[in-house]
Amino acid sequence: MTLTIPTAPFLDQKPGTSGLRKKVRVFQQPHYAENFVQSVFDVLDNFDGQTLVLGGDGRFLNREVIQTAIRMAAANGFGRVLVGLGGILSTPAASNVIRKYGAFGGLILSASHNPGGPDEDFGIKYNIGNGGPAPEKITDAIYARSTVIDRYMTVDAPDINLDRLGETQVSGMTVAVIDPVTDYAELMEQLFDFGAIRELIAGGFRLSFDAMHAVTGPYAHEILERRLGAPAGTVVNGTPLPDFGGHHPDPNMVHAHELFDQMFGPNAPDFGAASDGDGDRNLILGRNIFVTPSDSLAALAANAHLAPGYASGITGIARSMPTSGAADRVAHALGLPLHETPTGWKFFGNLLDAGMATICGEESAGTGSDHVREKDGLWAVLLWLNILAVRRESVAAIMAGHWKRFGRNYYARHDYEGLESIAAERLMNELRVALPALPGRTTASLTVAPADEFEYLDPVDGSLSRAQGLRLLFEGGARIVFRLSGTGTSGATLRVYLERYEGTDGILDAETAAALADLVAAADALAGITRHTGRTAPTVIT
Ligand code: G6P
Ligand code: ZN
Repeated sequence: MTLTIPTAPFLDQKPGTSGLRKKVRVFQQPHYAENFVQSVFDVLDNFDGQTLVLGGDGRFLNREVIQTAIRMAAANGFGRVLVGLGGILSTPAASNVIRKYGAFGGLILSASHNPGGPDEDFGIKYNIGNGGPAPEKITDAIYARSTVIDRYMTVDAPDINLDRLGETQVSGMTVAVIDPVTDYAELMEQLFDFGAIRELIAGGFRLSFDAMHAVTGPYAHEILERRLGAPAGTVVNGTPLPDFGGHHPDPNMVHAHELFDQMFGPNAPDFGAASDGDGDRNLILGRNIFVTPSDSLAALAANAHLAPGYASGITGIARSMPTSGAADRVAHALGLPLHETPTGWKFFGNLLDAGMATICGEESAGTGSDHVREKDGLWAVLLWLNILAVRRESVAAIMAGHWKRFGRNYYARHDYEGLESIAAERLMNELRVALPALPGRTTASLTVAPADEFEYLDPVDGSLSRAQGLRLLFEGGARIVFRLSGTGTSGATLRVYLERYEGTDGILDAETAAALADLVAAADALAGITRHTGRTAPTVIT
């Protein structure tokens, strides 16, 4: 029986870069999750009898919100829900399930790389029928709806058993609990030469994968250890935990420092990788080398043809604006279009659907292709392994050869986390106002060339996205970008992206920090980071 429950709007349900993310305590308020889910359903049309995909990264509150969403899907007229066993689906696996089974869309429950647990973060994101995050016109509509919502619909039905595969009926709707790994592993086998990777590993190549107690554990155990024959123990922290073992499931130098220590220590394996809470990010390391996400995108694009799924070549490359220009060099050399989009995977969806790009990537540790409509951590790991299996060179040698061929974009991102929102906004506003006067000004021996605020006109649907980051270009090709993060759940995070290009005959093996030192000084001088925030150093450098 359908129940219509009266409710009152919450005014803070505006989706950010990637869905609605809030503290668990916020989501635990009566009707909070229900309001958001109903706002999603209210802005969608014609899903009667259709399929909804449901799954999350297993974090605290995952199971409860899944049960709530199942009842609401039944009440709102969906015909079927596909939900991952235990409520688990990695973000890329959910994208694949949506596409493979022709679902109307999906709800992915995750706050990505943010920590989990009763005092930490939770999130809900809606993905459309192409498997990708809802575009802004839908997320804007969801937000608008959430500000006026006055009722939600649910049914009076017990929880379903999420821990047993198979079908159950919930008020006339079918709920199928599916294995979260099988479809995804099959897709990976189609794209990559598992035989070649198996041989590489059998020949003594050693790798380590840190699943960070997050969603990729079951996927990595199955693919790396069972299907590719890597020895047990290759996957570490492979059991998903609701609080990720108390850590941030964020694959970077700070939160994956054990992997870094291992890869830069004695007896390091040949390859090290990690993924985040919901499995869409990746960290790539070789022995004594960290491959920045921007460089990884460029190297993967340059070598993708070595994997069966991309043997006939790629149609184009897309990167978010703050991502370095390394991929641009590859696109140029291969005669391919390069698309520059705002931060957020949702902006790649139209390009991928239109066949205008095959490979996409972001500086925030996301890389992926047109096989799904999300970034995909294990996909990046497997493409690297496929390339390594064919080239039989070390990661360091592949990157050295890459820079020799294309030049090197020295790159770093400095994050200032936990700022007061007012201070962060004042910094951005002042800089925005100052932009027109900056060209020609020299600071820390760098002269500002054009400076602007990035906006994006989607070439497929014509939509315009404004205010996507302040860019300062310098004579000689260096660049600093300033942006406020759209994924935080408390205070503000200022991101400062620093980049300097060194040509093929330049110094290609400098330390990144040294190569960018004058840009760091210029960033502070031009934007007044210390003056506005009181900080003299970033919280995290990636
Ligand atoms: C999420 C999105 C990415 C985005 C990243 C950083 O992971 O899926 O597309 O690049 O957040 O966003 P932020 O707004 O925090 O810089
Ligand atoms: Zn993620």
